[in-house]
Amino acid sequence: MPLQIVRNDITKMECDAIVNAANSSLLGGGGVDGAIHQAAGKKLLAECKTLGGCKTGEAKLTKGYRLPSRFVIHTVGPIWQGGANGEEELLRDCYRHSLALAKEHDFETVAFPLISSGAYGYPKDQALQIATEEIAAFLDQNEMTVYLVVFDKAAYQIGEERFSKIAAYIDDRYVNEHILQRTSQVLPPPTAARAFSAPMPIYSSEAIQEANSLEEALKTIDESFSEMLLRKIDEKGMTDAECYKKANIDRKLFSKIRGDRLYRPSKTTAIAFAIALELPLEEARDMLQKAGFALSHSNKFDIIIEYFITQKNYNIFEINEALFAFDQALLGV
Ligand code: AR6
Repeated sequence: MPLQIVRNDITKMECDAIVNAANSSLLGGGGVDGAIHQAAGKKLLAECKTLGGCKTGEAKLTKGYRLPSRFVIHTVGPIWQGGANGEEELLRDCYRHSLALAKEHDFETVAFPLISSGAYGYPKDQALQIATEEIAAFLDQNEMTVYLVVFDKAAYQIGEERFSKIAAYIDDRYVNEHILQRTSQVLPPPTAARAFSAPMPIYSSEAIQEANSLEEALKTIDESFSEMLLRKIDEKGMTDAECYKKANIDRKLFSKIRGDRLYRPSKTTAIAFAIALELPLEEARDMLQKAGFALSHSNKFDIIIEYFITQKNYNIFEINEALFAFDQALLGV
């Protein structure tokens, strides 16, 4: 998947390069910088000494030595001074220059920490937003897998306004559904159990019953997920690349789906395409059903997706931030 937010120790990531949140001396320090130097060994410091430091917002490359990643991109984030001293632009520069360096060296996988969000004091929610915006803008024009590695959950404190609205939406839906289930005997059973489990059939059962042979039965297949996807891409006047990029899906997986009319995507992949196509709720449900899935009110994941669709917010990176904040699976592959 082109952009993945993961909770991990960046020194454990196996990528072409990991990014270090360094200081302008490039001679090591605490936080992620200290952890990287410790894991890479003394040779990293020796190479850093030859680089002559690095300006805020710029980036320099070294080898990874004992790290599982082959290279380290060192960038220097701004120190937070209240936000009126050009911090935002400098932080954006860190991502832009680091990604440009990665591109220059044909790296396919790169992992970033949340630059400036520790010792340098940048508010974590803003640091995260800038990181996702810059990485998304880059991925819109380039093919690469980028990991955003967050170490602690504080970056996603749900108290912030954008997440508290989602939390309230979840509470409303969750509670309603459960009260209704308890008070009514005639309600159909919740569909949630199906949400991540057995796919529903995509065949029409009446037609199958009328068929005289298996071969004939197979001809009765409804429009498949893949066919609906390709039809919708055409109807929206999108190119394939516009669609899979917006869905945060990599090109290879898209080609697989394109080439196999009966391809069964995962639920997160199916939703990612519904989001990329900006489908309204009913059509999104329809498309999911083609892949054998449903959206229900009995799990947070589904309610968060419903929230964004009803808000007409189809930004997959924002949706993934929210899903991550609520410990849910992310959209894409
Ligand atoms: N893996 C992933 N993320 C981490 C790790 C890790 N092993 N360790 C910390 N973080 P910081 P800055 C997160 O302070 O704010 C150094 O002394 C951490 O939770 O490492 O850019 C340098 O030498 C936080 O969210 O970097 C500089 O002097 C994020 O990484 C100064 O700190 C960045 O925190 C740079 O400060």
